[in-house]
Amino acid sequence: MKVLKKVDLKISNIKNTITIYFGIPDSSEELEKMFKLRFKIYSQKNYIESHKYTDQQEKDEYDTNNKCIYFIAKIDNHIVGSVRVIHDNPLPTEKYYKFDKPDLSHLAANQKCEIGRLVIDKYNPVEYTYLPQGIVMFFLISCIVDYTSKNNINTALAFIKTSLKNKMKKRKMPFHIIQYSDFQINENDVLYKYFSQKKDPVVPVWFHLKDFKVYINKLLNNKIIFKKIDDNHYYLKNNLITNFIFKRSRSKLDSQFWKKYFTVYDTLNNLIPYQNLIQTIIKHAQPNPEDKILDAGSGTGNLAVKIEKGGAVVYGIDISKEGVEMHKSKKPKGEVIVGSITDPLPFPDNYFDKIVSNNVLYTIPRFKREFVYKELYRVLKPGGVIVISNIKKGFKPVKIYSDHIKESIKSYGYIYTIKQIIKFIIPTLKIFYYNFLIKKENKSGGYDFFEPEEQKKYLEKAGFVDISPDIPTYSNQAILNYARKTN
Ligand SMILES: C[S@@+](CC[C@H](N)C(=O)[O-])C[C@H]1O[C@@H](n2cnc3c(N)ncnc32)[C@H](O)[C@@H]1O
Repeated sequence: MKVLKKVDLKISNIKNTITIYFGIPDSSEELEKMFKLRFKIYSQKNYIESHKYTDQQEKDEYDTNNKCIYFIAKIDNHIVGSVRVIHDNPLPTEKYYKFDKPDLSHLAANQKCEIGRLVIDKYNPVEYTYLPQGIVMFFLISCIVDYTSKNNINTALAFIKTSLKNKMKKRKMPFHIIQYSDFQINENDVLYKYFSQKKDPVVPVWFHLKDFKVYINKLLNNKIIFKKIDDNHYYLKNNLITNFIFKRSRSKLDSQFWKKYFTVYDTLNNLIPYQNLIQTIIKHAQPNPEDKILDAGSGTGNLAVKIEKGGAVVYGIDISKEGVEMHKSKKPKGEVIVGSITDPLPFPDNYFDKIVSNNVLYTIPRFKREFVYKELYRVLKPGGVIVISNIKKGFKPVKIYSDHIKESIKSYGYIYTIKQIIKFIIPTLKIFYYNFLIKKENKSGGYDFFEPEEQKKYLEKAGFVDISPDIPTYSNQAILNYARKTN
């Protein structure tokens, strides 16, 4: 890449300073990696119909007709972000929207451009490491601003998601919303799904690029935020202000988080949707008394001890020492060990008759998931069954509790239900708080709740067959799949 800017920063859990390089891709290999990153992010966000992309590269006619200039961000050899600037007449926004005001048509075509395909990856080189995504966006935009001011371009259009618009507003970025009288998109358009997502609608916006230049320079010259190394090289300071502006989110949800959560975790055993979830896993695993079963991410052992009641022996592995200790206090028959399922599993090939895993993999960075499913495949005996559930996108813990209350009233009556609510009020509130943190972590890019069919894809890639469709469970807040290893 042709490097234009550099920023040094510290990110959580990594001792050394890392450098993010910003610039222009200058090889076909780099462009390919960039299109692949776009494909990855747009697929994850469900903006495109991924199955239509055979080469897993997200490109449209503006890319193939050389109408774009690209800027990318790189850490080591990974592209962690990219954006494109389109020169064309009309621009895509002008094609999709009929403007009310302002009418930008008086601007010469070469004075306006369109900014699009801004994607930023979650870079987790080490467990619980988070790249502040805001800083990547900031420097990518600053590359655009330098480029446009050199090329006499003064206005940029874009259609962005409401969630991004809100973030930009919160950070007081200078932009204007375009009023429009008509909007049209064809069902065959590559971005049809992007435009039709109701929960995060698209908003057309425009920018005076000189306003953006002022905004960027103001931040770059702010000594509380940056230390200037030279004109194109900055050090991002680590303080409350930079944490706010660039969302330097730090994962609080490491094994220390689970240690605290585990002090109240077993209260979940009283919740009917949790009981149903455990029963559904057991129903599909069909444990026999002679089975040797692995519970991957066994936590406090709730699932494992229930399975062992039927006679099988269940081995547990969990990253949390406290979870493992609580599990051991329940006197399991199988061995329970502290370990991470993101490392090679400490078991031989074809060792277990069955594998279960309940709501664990959503806590693991996406780029490591494929490896985990492959390891689970390796340690399962041929013909063995895996049953795995995970929290899904849109997770609403309140739904689990409200379903519990409804079910409890139906089965045990009002008096008993109210007595139980009072009895467990403190741990229940704590559980809500911890679930709130989990949800927040999902938003900040730490945990990644599962997309529909995502689990199926990993199972398939690992080699599993007879994969079940997504089965909603846990008050429809989790997705369960079962599958089999080939004989
Ligand atoms: C929501 S709890 C589920 C616990 C248990 N499976 C159950 O059914 O209640 C998530 C569990 O994942 C564990 N975990 C998170 N990351 C892990 C990793 N890399 N390896 C093993 N366990 C992990 C946590 O310690 C925690 O016990």
